[in-house]
Amino acid sequence: MKKISVSFLSSKNIAEDLTLLDHTDADFIHVDVMDGKLVKNKSLPFREMKHIHKYTKKRLDVHLMVENPSKYIPLYAELNVEYITFHIETEEDVMKNLNLIRDYSVRCGLALYPDTPVKSLIPYLPYLDVILIMSVVPGEGGQEFIPSTEQKLVELHSLLQSYGLNVSVNVDGGVNDETSKKCRYADILTSGTYILSGESYQDKITSLR
Ligand code: DX5
Ligand code: ZN
Repeated sequence: MKKISVSFLSSKNIAEDLTLLDHTDADFIHVDVMDGKLVKNKSLPFREMKHIHKYTKKRLDVHLMVENPSKYIPLYAELNVEYITFHIETEEDVMKNLNLIRDYSVRCGLALYPDTPVKSLIPYLPYLDVILIMSVVPGEGGQEFIPSTEQKLVELHSLLQSYGLNVSVNVDGGVNDETSKKCRYADILTSGTYILSGESYQDKITSLR
């Protein structure tokens, strides 16, 4: 059964939605962090985001869409965090940042833009706990799932198999009960708009597993 990570990027009332989600069997809360540089939008500053624990007891799946992960990793590592994932496309030293996350005993991951090939992960594969495949161009919620993601997941699956590695694969963006069928090789599905637009968040979550 797939794990579900719920993004609250498109939430109109974060406190209320997180409280409701706490009563579902969602596995993680997906925290989208945007700096207005790597992606054009900006998310809440950390001084506000850090209060998230008041509304949720779920473990956090932090997605850093930022140019300087090294500035954000120490902040988010202090929260109730399961994964910290940053983009392979940043200018910073990827290996250094993976080690920085691991120094906090947090699981680490790399995220890939839709156009970035899976082979770019090869040097880092043995060090990864999770790989985040973006199925939309990062930066905003409510976009449509890019169809070529299906083929990319197949490629990633065979790449991991050829190295004999068992790294979790998370798919993020435009995931709903239709597009989730294209994610056979994913272990975790991240979804925001689809889950939060329903009457019952639990029913939506169940439909994705
Ligand atoms: C996109 C974000 C995603 C997104 C998921 O930049 O990283 O986490 O908000 O939400 P939906 O399901 O609305 O695409
Ligand atoms: Zn995300």
